[in-house]
Amino acid sequence: MTQKIIILDFGSQTTQLIGRRVRELDTFCEIMPYNKFPKDDPSVIGVILSGSPFSVHDPEGFKPDLSDFLGKIPVLGICYGAQYLSFSLGGKVEKSNTREYGRANLETINLENPLFKGFEQNSQVWMSHGDTITAIPDGFEVIGSTKDVKNAAFWCPPGTAVANSTLYTLHSTLDKGIWAVQFHPEVFHTLQGMQLLRNFVVDICGSRQEWSAASFVDTTVAELKAQLGNDRVILGLSGGVDSSVAAVLLNRAIGDHLTCIFVDHGMLRKNEFQQVMDDYKVLGLNVIGVDASEKFFADLAGVTDPEQKRKIIGRDFVEVFNAEAKKITDAKWLAQGTIYPDRIESLNITGKVIKSHHNVGGLPKEMNLQLCEPLKWLFKDEVRRVGRQLGMPEHLITRHPFPGPGLAVRILGDITPEKVRILQDADDIYIRGLRDYKVKLSGEEARKVLAAGVPADMKDGEIEVSLYDQIWQAGAILLSTVRSVGVMGDERTYENPVALRAVTSSDAMTADWAHLPYDFMAKVSNEIINKVRGVNRVCYDISSKPPATIEWE
Ligand code: XMP
Repeated sequence: MTQKIIILDFGSQTTQLIGRRVRELDTFCEIMPYNKFPKDDPSVIGVILSGSPFSVHDPEGFKPDLSDFLGKIPVLGICYGAQYLSFSLGGKVEKSNTREYGRANLETINLENPLFKGFEQNSQVWMSHGDTITAIPDGFEVIGSTKDVKNAAFWCPPGTAVANSTLYTLHSTLDKGIWAVQFHPEVFHTLQGMQLLRNFVVDICGSRQEWSAASFVDTTVAELKAQLGNDRVILGLSGGVDSSVAAVLLNRAIGDHLTCIFVDHGMLRKNEFQQVMDDYKVLGLNVIGVDASEKFFADLAGVTDPEQKRKIIGRDFVEVFNAEAKKITDAKWLAQGTIYPDRIESLNITGKVIKSHHNVGGLPKEMNLQLCEPLKWLFKDEVRRVGRQLGMPEHLITRHPFPGPGLAVRILGDITPEKVRILQDADDIYIRGLRDYKVKLSGEEARKVLAAGVPADMKDGEIEVSLYDQIWQAGAILLSTVRSVGVMGDERTYENPVALRAVTSSDAMTADWAHLPYDFMAKVSNEIINKVRGVNRVCYDISSKPPATIEWE
């Protein structure tokens, strides 16, 4: 049985980050709503309580019963988690006069405590809270303080008798310890945060650190074999990382019983349809490629409104996909490349849907297909690791995200095959340029790239990667509703500009524009204007998200 840590989500922005950190410790974890602890699951070895946007004094602040696990399994409360432990066990939580936000140092640390093994005195931590714990519950001891926050870290050793909670009944004496920290060990600015989480997950909870890409592939392939037997499965491929990895994994499990459908709507990148089809063939996948570009161009003719374009493409896609899927009459399952963050976002406990989840959707009811989502437990970086484990080529694994409606949302105004051709040519020069331009990175920048799973060798504290691998997503946009004057040779031109966009991000919810080197921009702009007929000007988009979005439409 795979051991797991349960992270109870009280709605903090960093809950997912806690999950990713635990996974980095080769330990499986599940993020559950704050009141949904799986009490009959014997594989749970520890519980982490997350932060929250609420205060324990807010009427809407979450106040669940913790008696199912408190004292029975090791517990770590982070920020609100720490405040709620204190509040519910008889301590005191009060509004602090100043919001405690930013860097602080643990001026006193109990280095004997297992949570702080390997810590240095004065270690830097990151605070972000409006309330502070002014008194810890009876039976607890302070194990770390900053200048302003006396009760920055505290614990209740196993075997201690604690007063009962006013909010729930503790059924037994505490066999396992409780730890609580008001700072955030999961964020990078808590410099020894990973050490703290390792101490908790590995030493205190006893993780065997058995979660790896190799173990995931072995277990999942065995599970898929058992679940699917000889059934036929259909999967919609997009050329992106998630659906491709899902396909290869399923292919490992059920071979030819998997049929993939890859629809070309005519607005993919230059030569992408053919290249991806070739890649899939090499991987041994059974793929039906459908060139439906004529239908899409016909239905999009003259349409300029961005939402309208998306709707038409969405509708046409479902139509084309369904027509193909229906031909596979013995299909029992529809497989999708849904990953863990998609599901956590749609389960968001505060009820605010941040991003709607773009899946194929809308298959005809009469097909009666069951859903199979083999990547549903993985974070993006883990999907990439699994792809590598499965021997997939690096260019498929590190491919940037690309929107479902493709270049249609990167052409302002109406769509024509000629405009798509112009944009494909400009985009191709840009993307090839990003792949060819190498940069040396060190420190935090190098760490970020390596954490994303990009394979690079560290030499003298530096790694060398391409600009492409350093950024989250890039693409060109054709401003076909704008024309400007230029001069080419002796000729006056009156043509469209192309905007280049490149952003850094970790999840596409927020993004910064990438600071691309000037010599790179100079070279790319020159090449685009000289080689792409129809473009006489290149601009660089320096907007962050929010308030802008990554795509222009
Ligand atoms: P925005 O533009 O909302 O994009 O900042 C966030 C991320 O989502 C991608 N995106 C889409 N992906 N279908 C998709 O599959 C879509 O309709 C769509 N719209 C945006 C975008 O490329 C970025 O990675």
